[in-house]
Amino acid sequence: MKRLPLLFLVITLFAASTAVQCQQKMADLITANFRFAEKQYKLLMQHVTPDKMPQRYEQATNNWVNMEIQWWCSGFYPGSLWYIYEQTGDSSIRKEAERALEVIKPNQFYTDHHDLGFMMYCSFGNAYRITGNEAYKQPILNAADALITRFRPGIPAIQSWNKSKKFNCPVIIDNMMNLELLEWAARNGGNKKGSEIARLHTATTTKNHYRPDYSSYHVIDYDTATGAVLQKRTHQGYADNSAWSRGQAWGLYGYVMMYRFTKNKAYLQQAQNIAGFILNHPHLPADKIPYWDYDAPNIPDAVRDVSAAAITASALLELGQYTKGKQKEKYLADATTILRALDSDQYKAAPGTNGGFLLLHSTGALPFNSEIDVPLIYADYYFLEALKRYKDWYLK
Ligand code: GLY
Repeated sequence: MKRLPLLFLVITLFAASTAVQCQQKMADLITANFRFAEKQYKLLMQHVTPDKMPQRYEQATNNWVNMEIQWWCSGFYPGSLWYIYEQTGDSSIRKEAERALEVIKPNQFYTDHHDLGFMMYCSFGNAYRITGNEAYKQPILNAADALITRFRPGIPAIQSWNKSKKFNCPVIIDNMMNLELLEWAARNGGNKKGSEIARLHTATTTKNHYRPDYSSYHVIDYDTATGAVLQKRTHQGYADNSAWSRGQAWGLYGYVMMYRFTKNKAYLQQAQNIAGFILNHPHLPADKIPYWDYDAPNIPDAVRDVSAAAITASALLELGQYTKGKQKEKYLADATTILRALDSDQYKAAPGTNGGFLLLHSTGALPFNSEIDVPLIYADYYFLEALKRYKDWYLK
Protein backbone atom coordinates (compact mmCIF):
# COMPACT_ATOMS: atom_id res chain seq x y z
CA MET A 1 0.00 0.00 0.00
CA LYS A 2 2.83 2.40 0.92
CA ARG A 3 4.35 1.95 -2.52
CA LEU A 4 1.35 3.44 -4.32
CA PRO A 5 1.84 7.10 -3.28
CA LEU A 6 5.54 6.78 -4.11
CA LEU A 7 4.75 5.37 -7.54
CA PHE A 8 2.23 8.17 -8.08
CA LEU A 9 4.86 10.76 -7.12
CA VAL A 10 7.43 9.24 -9.51
CA ILE A 11 4.92 9.23 -12.39
CA THR A 12 3.89 12.83 -11.65
CA LEU A 13 7.50 14.01 -11.52
CA PHE A 14 8.30 12.15 -14.75
CA ALA A 15 5.29 13.70 -16.54
CA ALA A 16 6.24 17.17 -15.27
CA SER A 17 9.86 16.84 -16.41
CA THR A 18 8.72 15.57 -19.84
CA ALA A 19 6.42 18.59 -20.18
CA VAL A 20 9.30 20.94 -19.27
CA GLN A 21 11.53 19.25 -21.86
CA CYS A 22 8.83 19.60 -24.55
CA GLN A 23 8.43 23.28 -23.72
CA GLN A 24 12.18 23.82 -23.91
CA LYS A 25 12.33 22.08 -27.29
CA MET A 26 9.58 24.31 -28.67
CA ALA A 27 11.23 27.41 -27.19
CA ASP A 28 14.49 26.46 -28.93
CA LEU A 29 12.68 25.69 -32.19
CA ILE A 30 10.98 29.10 -32.15
CA THR A 31 14.18 31.03 -31.36
CA ALA A 32 16.14 29.16 -34.03
CA ASN A 33 13.46 29.76 -36.67
CA PHE A 34 13.33 33.51 -36.09
CA ARG A 35 17.15 33.66 -36.34
CA PHE A 36 16.92 31.61 -39.53
CA ALA A 37 14.19 33.91 -40.87
CA GLU A 38 16.29 37.00 -40.13
CA LYS A 39 19.14 35.62 -42.28
CA GLN A 40 16.91 34.25 -45.03
CA TYR A 41 14.94 37.48 -45.44
CA LYS A 42 18.17 39.47 -45.71
CA LEU A 43 18.88 37.28 -48.75
CA LEU A 44 15.33 37.62 -50.10
CA MET A 45 15.51 41.43 -49.69
CA GLN A 46 18.28 41.61 -52.27
CA HIS A 47 15.93 40.27 -54.94
CA VAL A 48 12.89 42.46 -54.37
CA THR A 49 11.90 44.67 -57.29
CA PRO A 50 11.56 48.15 -55.72
CA ASP A 51 7.92 48.80 -56.70
CA LYS A 52 6.70 45.19 -56.31
CA MET A 53 6.38 42.56 -53.57
CA PRO A 54 8.03 39.12 -53.52
CA GLN A 55 5.69 36.21 -54.14
CA ARG A 56 7.68 33.03 -54.82
CA TYR A 57 11.03 31.59 -55.91
CA GLU A 58 11.48 29.19 -58.82
CA GLN A 59 14.44 27.03 -58.07
CA ALA A 60 14.85 25.39 -61.49
CA THR A 61 15.50 28.76 -63.15
CA ASN A 62 16.82 30.61 -60.06
CA ASN A 63 14.02 33.12 -60.57
CA TRP A 64 12.47 35.43 -57.96
CA VAL A 65 8.90 36.31 -58.88
CA ASN A 66 7.79 39.73 -57.66
CA MET A 67 4.19 40.81 -58.15
CA GLU A 68 2.33 44.10 -58.62
CA ILE A 69 1.15 45.60 -55.35
CA GLN A 70 -2.49 44.97 -56.26
CA TRP A 71 -1.87 41.22 -56.16
CA TRP A 72 -3.62 39.79 -53.08
CA CYS A 73 -0.30 38.79 -51.44
CA SER A 74 1.37 42.21 -51.22
CA GLY A 75 0.89 42.49 -47.44
CA PHE A 76 2.68 39.25 -46.54
CA TYR A 77 6.25 40.39 -47.20
CA PRO A 78 6.01 43.48 -44.97
CA GLY A 79 3.98 41.45 -42.46
CA SER A 80 6.65 38.74 -42.28
CA LEU A 81 9.37 41.36 -41.87
CA TRP A 82 7.46 42.89 -38.96
CA TYR A 83 7.09 39.47 -37.29
CA ILE A 84 10.85 38.89 -37.71
CA TYR A 85 11.71 42.37 -36.44
CA GLU A 86 9.45 41.89 -33.41
CA GLN A 87 11.42 38.82 -32.32
CA THR A 88 14.95 39.86 -33.36
CA GLY A 89 15.02 43.66 -33.11
CA ASP A 90 17.08 43.71 -36.33
CA SER A 91 17.17 47.31 -37.61
CA SER A 92 17.76 46.45 -41.29
CA ILE A 93 14.73 44.16 -41.24
CA ARG A 94 12.67 47.01 -39.79
CA LYS A 95 13.98 49.46 -42.40
CA GLU A 96 12.92 47.11 -45.19
CA ALA A 97 9.52 46.58 -43.52
CA GLU A 98 9.02 50.35 -43.43
CA ARG A 99 10.06 50.68 -47.07
CA ALA A 100 7.67 47.91 -48.13
CA LEU A 101 4.76 49.60 -46.33
CA GLU A 102 5.36 52.79 -48.31
CA VAL A 103 5.26 50.79 -51.53
CA ILE A 104 1.91 49.12 -50.80
CA LYS A 105 0.31 52.15 -49.13
CA PRO A 106 -1.78 53.11 -52.22
CA ASN A 107 -3.70 49.84 -51.68
CA GLN A 108 -5.62 51.56 -48.88
CA PHE A 109 -7.95 52.93 -51.57
CA TYR A 110 -8.07 49.83 -53.76
CA THR A 111 -11.56 48.53 -54.51
CA ASP A 112 -11.14 46.15 -57.44
CA HIS A 113 -11.13 42.92 -55.38
CA HIS A 114 -11.78 41.86 -51.79
CA ASP A 115 -8.28 41.14 -50.47
CA LEU A 116 -7.82 44.38 -48.52
CA GLY A 117 -7.41 42.44 -45.28
CA PHE A 118 -4.51 40.36 -46.53
CA MET A 119 -2.91 43.39 -48.19
CA MET A 120 -3.43 46.05 -45.54
CA TYR A 121 -4.09 44.34 -42.20
CA CYS A 122 -1.32 41.71 -42.28
CA SER A 123 1.10 44.54 -43.12
CA PHE A 124 -0.02 47.82 -41.54
CA GLY A 125 -1.89 45.96 -38.79
CA ASN A 126 1.30 44.34 -37.54
CA ALA A 127 3.29 47.55 -37.98
CA TYR A 128 0.76 49.45 -35.87
CA ARG A 129 0.57 46.71 -33.23
CA ILE A 130 4.35 46.54 -32.86
CA THR A 131 5.29 50.23 -33.10
CA GLY A 132 2.14 52.05 -31.96
CA ASN A 133 2.95 54.59 -34.70
CA GLU A 134 -0.34 56.42 -35.39
CA ALA A 135 0.70 57.03 -39.02
CA TYR A 136 0.06 53.33 -39.66
CA LYS A 137 -3.54 53.45 -38.45
CA GLN A 138 -5.38 55.59 -40.99
CA PRO A 139 -4.38 53.41 -43.98
CA ILE A 140 -5.97 50.44 -42.17
CA LEU A 141 -9.20 52.36 -41.58
CA ASN A 142 -9.24 53.56 -45.20
CA ALA A 143 -8.73 49.99 -46.40
CA ALA A 144 -11.75 48.88 -44.35
CA ASP A 145 -13.82 51.58 -46.10
CA ALA A 146 -12.53 50.34 -49.45
CA LEU A 147 -13.57 46.77 -48.61
CA ILE A 148 -17.02 47.92 -47.46
CA THR A 149 -17.70 49.26 -50.98
CA ARG A 150 -17.84 45.62 -52.09
CA PHE A 151 -20.65 44.68 -49.69
CA ARG A 152 -23.77 43.51 -51.52
CA PRO A 153 -26.72 43.81 -49.09
CA GLY A 154 -29.06 41.73 -51.28
CA ILE A 155 -26.98 38.61 -50.58
CA PRO A 156 -25.78 39.75 -47.92
CA ALA A 157 -22.01 39.28 -48.46
CA ILE A 158 -18.86 40.97 -49.69
CA GLN A 159 -18.19 40.36 -53.39
CA SER A 160 -14.76 38.74 -53.79
CA TRP A 161 -13.99 39.21 -57.47
CA ASN A 162 -15.64 41.31 -60.14
CA LYS A 163 -18.19 39.89 -62.56
CA SER A 164 -16.61 37.75 -65.27
CA LYS A 165 -17.61 35.30 -68.02
CA LYS A 166 -17.53 32.55 -65.41
CA PHE A 167 -19.15 34.24 -62.39
CA ASN A 168 -21.83 36.85 -61.71
CA CYS A 169 -21.01 37.77 -58.10
CA PRO A 170 -18.43 35.33 -56.74
CA VAL A 171 -17.77 35.02 -53.02
CA ILE A 172 -14.88 32.76 -52.07
CA ILE A 173 -14.21 31.09 -48.72
CA ASP A 174 -10.88 32.98 -48.50
CA ASN A 175 -12.98 36.12 -47.96
CA MET A 176 -13.50 35.14 -44.29
CA MET A 177 -9.89 36.26 -43.74
CA ASN A 178 -10.57 39.84 -44.85
CA LEU A 179 -13.21 40.28 -42.14
CA GLU A 180 -10.43 40.76 -39.57
CA LEU A 181 -9.74 44.15 -41.13
CA LEU A 182 -13.40 45.17 -40.76
CA GLU A 183 -13.74 43.97 -37.16
CA TRP A 184 -10.48 45.64 -36.11
CA ALA A 185 -11.27 48.92 -37.86
CA ALA A 186 -14.77 49.06 -36.32
CA ARG A 187 -13.21 48.89 -32.84
CA ASN A 188 -10.38 51.30 -33.52
CA GLY A 189 -12.02 54.46 -34.79
CA GLY A 190 -13.04 53.20 -38.24
CA ASN A 191 -16.38 52.49 -39.87
CA LYS A 192 -18.61 50.72 -37.34
CA LYS A 193 -20.75 49.29 -40.14
CA GLY A 194 -17.82 47.00 -40.95
CA SER A 195 -18.53 44.87 -37.91
CA GLU A 196 -22.15 44.29 -38.89
CA ILE A 197 -21.09 43.52 -42.46
CA ALA A 198 -18.53 41.00 -41.19
CA ARG A 199 -21.26 39.19 -39.21
CA LEU A 200 -23.72 39.20 -42.11
CA HIS A 201 -20.99 37.86 -44.40
CA THR A 202 -20.15 35.13 -41.89
CA ALA A 203 -23.81 34.07 -41.58
CA THR A 204 -24.14 33.83 -45.36
CA THR A 205 -20.90 31.84 -45.55
CA THR A 206 -22.12 29.38 -42.93
CA LYS A 207 -25.38 28.94 -44.82
CA ASN A 208 -24.07 28.53 -48.34
CA HIS A 209 -20.36 27.62 -48.33
CA TYR A 210 -20.46 24.71 -45.90
CA ARG A 211 -21.44 21.13 -46.55
CA PRO A 212 -22.89 18.78 -43.90
CA ASP A 213 -19.39 17.36 -43.20
CA TYR A 214 -18.04 20.91 -42.52
CA SER A 215 -15.93 21.03 -45.63
CA SER A 216 -16.31 24.13 -47.74
CA TYR A 217 -16.95 24.94 -51.36
CA HIS A 218 -14.45 27.38 -52.77
CA VAL A 219 -16.70 29.74 -54.76
CA ILE A 220 -20.38 30.54 -54.30
CA ASP A 221 -21.80 32.62 -57.12
CA TYR A 222 -24.79 34.83 -56.25
CA ASP A 223 -27.58 36.86 -57.74
CA THR A 224 -26.96 40.23 -56.08
CA ALA A 225 -30.63 41.29 -56.11
CA THR A 226 -32.23 38.18 -54.62
CA GLY A 227 -29.26 36.55 -52.88
CA ALA A 228 -30.04 33.30 -54.75
CA VAL A 229 -27.12 30.90 -55.14
CA LEU A 230 -26.40 30.56 -58.86
CA GLN A 231 -23.46 28.16 -58.70
CA LYS A 232 -21.33 26.24 -56.19
CA ARG A 233 -17.93 25.90 -57.82
CA THR A 234 -14.23 25.61 -57.33
CA HIS A 235 -11.51 27.83 -58.76
CA GLN A 236 -8.29 26.49 -57.29
CA GLY A 237 -9.44 23.10 -56.06
CA TYR A 238 -9.63 19.72 -57.77
CA ALA A 239 -13.41 19.73 -58.37
CA ASP A 240 -16.53 21.67 -57.43
CA ASN A 241 -17.37 19.08 -54.77
CA SER A 242 -13.83 18.57 -53.47
CA ALA A 243 -12.22 20.07 -50.37
CA TRP A 244 -9.44 22.41 -51.52
CA SER A 245 -6.96 22.37 -48.65
CA ARG A 246 -6.16 26.05 -48.37
CA GLY A 247 -9.85 26.89 -48.50
CA GLN A 248 -10.46 24.64 -45.49
CA ALA A 249 -7.64 26.43 -43.67
CA TRP A 250 -8.94 29.91 -44.52
CA GLY A 251 -12.38 28.94 -43.23
CA LEU A 252 -11.00 27.55 -39.98
CA TYR A 253 -8.88 30.64 -39.36
CA GLY A 254 -11.77 32.94 -40.30
CA TYR A 255 -14.27 31.49 -37.83
CA VAL A 256 -11.73 31.42 -34.97
CA MET A 257 -10.88 35.05 -35.69
CA MET A 258 -14.57 36.03 -35.81
CA TYR A 259 -15.06 34.35 -32.43
CA ARG A 260 -12.14 36.39 -31.04
CA PHE A 261 -13.96 39.62 -31.90
CA THR A 262 -17.57 38.67 -31.24
CA LYS A 263 -17.57 35.82 -28.70
CA ASN A 264 -20.44 34.35 -30.72
CA LYS A 265 -20.46 30.68 -29.69
CA ALA A 266 -21.82 29.59 -33.08
CA TYR A 267 -18.57 30.74 -34.69
CA LEU A 268 -16.52 28.77 -32.15
CA GLN A 269 -18.64 25.68 -32.79
CA GLN A 270 -18.23 26.11 -36.55
CA ALA A 271 -14.44 26.43 -36.11
CA GLN A 272 -14.35 23.26 -34.01
CA ASN A 273 -16.39 21.42 -36.63
CA ILE A 274 -14.06 22.57 -39.42
CA ALA A 275 -11.03 21.56 -37.32
CA GLY A 276 -12.67 18.14 -36.92
CA PHE A 277 -13.04 17.81 -40.70
CA ILE A 278 -9.37 18.70 -41.27
CA LEU A 279 -7.76 16.79 -38.41
CA ASN A 280 -9.81 13.60 -38.79
CA HIS A 281 -9.62 13.46 -42.56
CA PRO A 282 -8.47 10.02 -43.76
CA HIS A 283 -6.29 11.72 -46.40
CA LEU A 284 -4.44 13.95 -43.92
CA PRO A 285 -0.90 12.55 -43.77
CA ALA A 286 0.66 11.64 -40.41
CA ASP A 287 2.81 14.81 -40.41
CA LYS A 288 -0.44 16.82 -40.90
CA ILE A 289 0.86 18.69 -43.95
CA PRO A 290 -2.12 18.29 -46.30
CA TYR A 291 -2.13 17.40 -49.95
CA TRP A 292 -3.18 20.42 -52.04
CA ASP A 293 -6.76 19.09 -52.10
CA TYR A 294 -8.19 16.51 -49.69
CA ASP A 295 -9.80 14.82 -52.72
CA ALA A 296 -6.83 15.05 -55.09
CA PRO A 297 -7.02 11.99 -57.35
CA ASN A 298 -3.39 10.91 -57.05
CA ILE A 299 -3.06 10.75 -53.26
CA PRO A 300 -0.54 9.68 -51.86
CA ASP A 301 1.49 11.02 -54.80
CA ALA A 302 -0.26 14.40 -54.90
CA VAL A 303 1.77 17.51 -54.04
CA ARG A 304 1.35 19.02 -50.60
CA ASP A 305 0.35 22.54 -49.65
CA VAL A 306 2.59 23.76 -46.87
CA SER A 307 0.76 27.11 -46.83
CA ALA A 308 -2.48 25.34 -45.81
CA ALA A 309 -0.56 23.62 -43.00
CA ALA A 310 0.93 26.90 -41.71
CA ILE A 311 -2.47 28.66 -41.75
CA THR A 312 -4.04 25.67 -39.98
CA ALA A 313 -1.33 25.62 -37.29
CA SER A 314 -1.80 29.31 -36.57
CA ALA A 315 -5.60 28.91 -36.43
CA LEU A 316 -5.43 25.83 -34.18
CA LEU A 317 -3.21 27.68 -31.72
CA GLU A 318 -5.84 30.40 -31.43
CA LEU A 319 -8.66 27.85 -31.25
CA GLY A 320 -6.81 26.21 -28.35
CA GLN A 321 -7.06 29.52 -26.49
CA TYR A 322 -10.84 29.29 -26.56
CA THR A 323 -11.13 25.58 -25.80
CA LYS A 324 -10.65 23.55 -22.63
CA GLY A 325 -9.49 20.09 -21.54
CA LYS A 326 -8.71 17.27 -23.96
CA GLN A 327 -9.91 19.22 -26.99
CA LYS A 328 -7.48 22.04 -26.22
CA GLU A 329 -4.66 19.52 -25.77
CA LYS A 330 -5.52 17.97 -29.14
CA TYR A 331 -5.44 21.32 -30.97
CA LEU A 332 -2.12 22.17 -29.36
CA ALA A 333 -0.68 18.72 -30.11
CA ASP A 334 -1.75 18.88 -33.76
CA ALA A 335 -0.43 22.42 -34.20
CA THR A 336 2.84 21.27 -32.62
CA THR A 337 3.04 18.33 -35.03
CA ILE A 338 2.64 20.73 -37.95
CA LEU A 339 5.26 23.17 -36.64
CA ARG A 340 7.75 20.37 -35.98
CA ALA A 341 7.18 19.04 -39.50
CA LEU A 342 7.66 22.51 -41.00
CA ASP A 343 10.88 22.82 -39.00
CA SER A 344 12.24 19.61 -40.57
CA ASP A 345 14.50 19.33 -43.63
CA GLN A 346 11.58 17.99 -45.61
CA TYR A 347 9.71 21.29 -45.56
CA LYS A 348 12.21 23.95 -44.45
CA ALA A 349 14.89 25.39 -46.71
CA ALA A 350 18.56 24.81 -45.99
CA PRO A 351 20.16 28.09 -44.84
CA GLY A 352 21.11 30.34 -47.75
CA THR A 353 18.90 28.48 -50.28
CA ASN A 354 15.31 28.75 -51.51
CA GLY A 355 15.83 32.34 -52.65
CA GLY A 356 15.58 33.45 -49.02
CA PHE A 357 12.07 32.06 -48.48
CA LEU A 358 11.68 29.88 -45.40
CA LEU A 359 9.44 27.00 -46.41
CA LEU A 360 9.27 24.66 -49.39
CA HIS A 361 6.37 22.77 -51.04
CA SER A 362 3.39 25.11 -51.22
CA THR A 363 0.82 24.98 -53.99
CA GLY A 364 -0.92 28.13 -55.21
CA ALA A 365 -3.27 27.17 -58.05
CA LEU A 366 -2.69 23.69 -59.40
CA PRO A 367 -5.59 23.64 -61.92
CA PHE A 368 -3.96 26.64 -63.62
CA ASN A 369 -0.59 24.93 -63.57
CA SER A 370 0.57 27.81 -61.41
CA GLU A 371 2.79 27.81 -58.30
CA ILE A 372 3.00 24.06 -57.85
CA ASP A 373 5.31 22.78 -55.10
CA VAL A 374 7.13 26.09 -54.58
CA PRO A 375 8.00 28.43 -51.71
CA LEU A 376 5.22 31.02 -51.31
CA ILE A 377 5.30 34.22 -49.28
CA TYR A 378 2.09 33.54 -47.35
CA ALA A 379 3.29 30.13 -46.14
CA ASP A 380 6.21 31.96 -44.50
CA TYR A 381 3.90 34.61 -43.05
CA TYR A 382 1.56 32.17 -41.31
CA PHE A 383 4.48 30.01 -40.14
CA LEU A 384 6.04 33.05 -38.45
CA GLU A 385 2.67 34.03 -37.00
CA ALA A 386 2.17 30.51 -35.61
CA LEU A 387 5.62 30.55 -33.99
CA LYS A 388 4.86 33.90 -32.35
CA ARG A 389 1.48 32.66 -31.17
CA TYR A 390 3.01 29.52 -29.70
CA LYS A 391 5.59 31.59 -27.85
CA ASP A 392 3.07 34.13 -26.54
CA TRP A 393 0.33 31.69 -25.55
CA TYR A 394 1.87 28.32 -24.74
CA LEU A 395 5.38 28.83 -23.39
CA LYS A 396 5.49 29.50 -19.68
N1 GLY B 1 -6.64 33.76 -51.47
C1 GLY B 1 -6.12 33.13 -52.62
C2 GLY B 1 -5.49 31.85 -52.35
O1 GLY B 1 -5.53 31.33 -51.26
O2 GLY B 1 -4.88 31.33 -53.28
